[in-house]
This record gives sequence, structure tokens and C-alpha cells, in this order.
Amino acid sequence: MPSIDYSQKIPNNVDLASDKRLQRALEAWQPNYLEWWNSVGPTDFNTKDVYLRTAVDVGSDGWAHFGYVKMPDYRWGIFLEPRDGARTIGFGDHFGEPAWQQVPGEYRNWLRRIIVTQADTEPASVEQQRLLGHTAPSLYDLRNLFQVNVEEGRHLWAMVYLLHTYFGKDGRDEADELLQRRSGNPDHPRILGTFNEPCEDWLSFFCFTMFTDRDGKFQLLALAESGFDPLSRTTRFMLTEEAHHMFVGQTGVGRVIERTCQLMKENPGKDVKALGGVPLEMIQRYVNFGASSSTDLYGAEISSNSANFFRSGLKGRAYEDKQADHLALEGTYRFENLVEGRLSMEEVPLRNAMNEVLRDEYVKDNERGIEYWNRICERAGNDFRFALPHRRFNRRIGVYAGARFDLEGKLIDEAAWVAHVDRWLPSASDRAYVKSLMVPCYEKGKTAGWIAPPAKGIQGMPVDYEYVRM
Ligand SMILES: [Fe+2]
Ligand SMILES: [Fe+2]
Repeated sequence: MPSIDYSQKIPNNVDLASDKRLQRALEAWQPNYLEWWNSVGPTDFNTKDVYLRTAVDVGSDGWAHFGYVKMPDYRWGIFLEPRDGARTIGFGDHFGEPAWQQVPGEYRNWLRRIIVTQADTEPASVEQQRLLGHTAPSLYDLRNLFQVNVEEGRHLWAMVYLLHTYFGKDGRDEADELLQRRSGNPDHPRILGTFNEPCEDWLSFFCFTMFTDRDGKFQLLALAESGFDPLSRTTRFMLTEEAHHMFVGQTGVGRVIERTCQLMKENPGKDVKALGGVPLEMIQRYVNFGASSSTDLYGAEISSNSANFFRSGLKGRAYEDKQADHLALEGTYRFENLVEGRLSMEEVPLRNAMNEVLRDEYVKDNERGIEYWNRICERAGNDFRFALPHRRFNRRIGVYAGARFDLEGKLIDEAAWVAHVDRWLPSASDRAYVKSLMVPCYEKGKTAGWIAPPAKGIQGMPVDYEYVRM
């Protein structure tokens, strides 16, 4: 496995130089990518020096270099984990066969669809977050936003490499369309609903990186199991970058909670809003929205697509090696289905429930984040406790989209929903209030008043380091 070659126009560790046709195709796509970045990325900060990490090696230690970069000069490239020549397919009907180095003809369309759906989320999130730089609560946060943005850009490169290399003309057309759809555009939207929601304030951004990037983690874990080896190797490396995105979300929300707890302690009985903080109940409503919207991303509970993707060996379960039975032919999955307006326990063939199996892992991981936030409350001597909304709450996709459920997942009628919704989800006045706090704080070492400063800086640098040179 060659190390990453940075002398190339497109840095890579796939020996791009030896495939002139592919190299030319990707070099032709590159200016279109930059044009996309320069028109719908974080455009107003393109001339600033940002302290960014850039992948330099695919090994698990020492894989990144940190230094000042202007974002348009970021070295977006193609980095795959090393190939294991003995790798076999770990699940489904082809279990035990050698992993595919080329696209299996009979699954070509499914595989292309899986790759395009993943790819589309990457530029979408950059578009959603493009204006947040104007209201960053600190230079540290501003830098983290841009770090997430450039790496989502690299994730797009990772998927476009697969489309160009393995899918011929169709793949190149798909790669072009990835630069043409736009988040929130009614005529030409991004593929998945969550990636068309506006992200206009930093609390929403932190919830997005907490819950939506975490969906990304589990999708990538499922794709890392893929029998199509190039997809497995590229998603494995993407997971290395993804961890930081979730860190930004979890600690970001945590710092808002910490600041509110501090304001409450210092000013007992006073309205937190009068003190410029975000009330804990309001944070919970943002959590309810972010978690429920991202829970939709796993798709329908019973899904023939998910069965097909598993059966064919294209998309596995997260941590497939921990499963005892990799065929999942015999097993069943029990869940509460909504039938004619009622919940009733049902047992379905396991392969048809693969979306739900992945969602289970996601919910468990979210619970750990909630515990982390509750420890912050506990340490501050505050009695408030956060809770993850039930997976049935506020769904727009799957069986539960057909009815209303409360935060505990209890079936309720429309009137009860209307009566409570402003206590469960951010109201227009919540959103207006949070937006009113969004005033930039670009002074070195300073942090806006609604959020606590970070516990430590990036890569051993002090918190008051000049992470972005304004
Ligand atoms: Fe990503
Ligand atoms: Fe991400």
C-alpha cells in the first residue's frame, strides 16, 4: 500500500497516476467541486488561515497533520485503508466468498444507489452549515465547524472516487449531480429529508453533529462490512474522521448545558433567559428535534431494500463480527408495529428488519451521549436530567409516521399532540430566542456568554490559540 502521495493534483494512496483515464476524469471533476465549494461552502472565510487537520497517512496513529490552511487550498484527496488480500465477505448469501474487488454485475444498481445516497449527505451538510461561521461563539468553535466542513468535502471525494472508478459513465453522471442538488432547494433537493432542514444556529449545529453525524457513523459501520472491498476500505477511513464530528456535537451541547447550570447556580430563582443562557428545557427540545429527525435516516422498520442489501452482501450490520449468525436467515426480529392505529407486537424475518437492527445500535449510542450530559448537570448540582425521546416520537418515515407519539413513545391523538408540541419541540419563539444569542465572538481566547469555554484546545494547543486568523 503506497502512502499518500501529496505531489499529485489529487492527493491519494490508490496510485491514481497509473490510471490516466481515471485521473483525467477526476481532474476534470475537481474544478467543479471547487466551484461548488466556492459558491455554497463557507464562502466568506475562504481567505482566512484556519488551523486544520489534514490526513497524511491511513495508519491509525499519526494519521493527521495540523497546520494553518486556507480552506480552498485544503488537500482533499482519496484515501483508502490498506487492502487485506485474504478478506472474505462477512455476511449474507455470499458469506465466506472472497471480497469483491470489482462491482458484482447483478448488484450494480443497488450498490450505486447505496453509494450515491451516502455521498449526497456529505455536500448537503456543508450547504446546511454554510452561514454558521458568521455567528461562531469562539475561534475554537469556528475552527471545528470548518474542520467538519472540509472533511465532509473529503467524504464526498471518497464516494466520487468509487463512482468514477467502478461505475463508468453512470458513475460520472452521478458525481456531477452530487454537485447540482442543493440542500433545501424545493426543485432540486438533497436525497434525504434531514439534509434539507436548515441549520441556522449553533445549538442546532451541535445537535446535528451529535445526532446526524452519528447516523453517519452507523451507516459507515454498516458499509465498512460491505463485500465490495473498495467501499469497505474507504468507509473505514472515513470513520476515523467522523469521530471528531460527533465530539464537536456532544461536547458542544455539553458546554451549553454547563453554562446554563452555572448561570442557574449563581443566580438562583432567576430566569436563565434574562441572563443570556439557554434554558435546559429548551436544550431538551432541540435534542428532541435533532434525535427524532436523525432517527428517520435509517428508513422503514420493515424493508425489502434492507433485506436485499444484506442478502447480497452490500450492506451489513454494525460490528458484524460480533454476531453469531452471519446469514440471518432463521432469525426473527420483534417490534411493535402500528396496525390500524394500534401498536401490536409483531415478529418479522430478521433480514427484513436490518434498518431496525442498525437503529437499535444508534439509539444505544445516543443514550451514552445523554448520560454524558446528565453527568454535567450532576457535577453542577442541578437536578435536571436529559432524556432521549422514544424512537417513535416525531417520525416522518416508517410505520410510526402514521400516528402521533409522546416522548415516551405512547400513542396519542392529534389534539394531545397539538396541545404539547411546543413543550416537546423547539417553538418559533425558542428558535427566535436561540437565534438572538447568535452573535459572533472572534476575540482570541474569548467565548460567547451562552456557552462554556472548551475544556481543552485542539491537538495540545491552548484554548486561547488563534484557531482562525481573522
Ligand atoms: Fe461525512
Ligand atoms: Fe461527519
